[in-house]
Amino acid sequence: MDNALLKKAVFSVNDLPVLPAIYEKIARMTQNPSTTAKDLARVIADDIALTTKLLKLVNSPFYAFPRSISTIPQAIVIIGYSALRNLVLTKSAFDLFPKFYGAENFKYVSFWKHSVGCGVGAKIIAKHCEYHEIEEMFVSGLLHDVGKVVQEQFLRGKFSEAISFACKSNITILEAENDVMGFCHTDTGNLVAEKWNLPPVIVEPITYHHKPRHTDKHRLQVSMVHLANVLSHALQLGSSGQKVLTGIDRFAWEMLGLSLGCIEEIMKKMLNEFDDAVNFIMS
Ligand SMILES: [Fe+2]
Ligand SMILES: [Fe+2]
Repeated sequence: MDNALLKKAVFSVNDLPVLPAIYEKIARMTQNPSTTAKDLARVIADDIALTTKLLKLVNSPFYAFPRSISTIPQAIVIIGYSALRNLVLTKSAFDLFPKFYGAENFKYVSFWKHSVGCGVGAKIIAKHCEYHEIEEMFVSGLLHDVGKVVQEQFLRGKFSEAISFACKSNITILEAENDVMGFCHTDTGNLVAEKWNLPPVIVEPITYHHKPRHTDKHRLQVSMVHLANVLSHALQLGSSGQKVLTGIDRFAWEMLGLSLGCIEEIMKKMLNEFDDAVNFIMS
């Protein structure tokens, strides 16, 4: 279904959720070379929850910094502007959506755990591939199925029908969504990601994580999120509502060039890091 038609069919009455202004502000400021850490700190300091998350992150084993960091400018200097932007996006997007109550057959807690699992996987795979924007990969993984949340919020009846149909027929949610609604969560995810003005490097994994070969530009990043999604399912880290397991796409596999030994190592690390990441994101 083309985008204009989808928008008209689905969202003519209801409006899509918008990201809080702080994300746009930080995104704009971090692209401007004359912005200083102090300028950014002033904006962050107005948001107590964000300040707490940022300090928690820089003091976590993830950065393994030798001494404790207690001020926001210090924290920003340590993690860098790009990581800060992605942290603000992680928090802003996560805060927008429900955590508990959804359709009878869609459990938000399990869904977010699956998403965190995918974020953790994408970050670990990025390290293995020597791709340095690891926070960008984490947020891409975390948001890869955001279309499902939007559907659950705006089209609960039809989406719930698609989940039941997928379970009954032993097919993927994506196939069931296409059968029941004529479009799927990657179409819806693309709409919301575009509306939020997210950079293409995050929009494309949301749009193509089930068909990496159709990606326009960011094939490596899409392939990493694709693999992280498959592994998050295989390790049963939460659940996105789907019962059937899907394999690794050949295009993504060739793109990443990882060995089977690497995959085993990545899965072990995912299991080790999963609980901490769930605590960090969901608390
Ligand atoms: Fe998906
Ligand atoms: Fe998924």
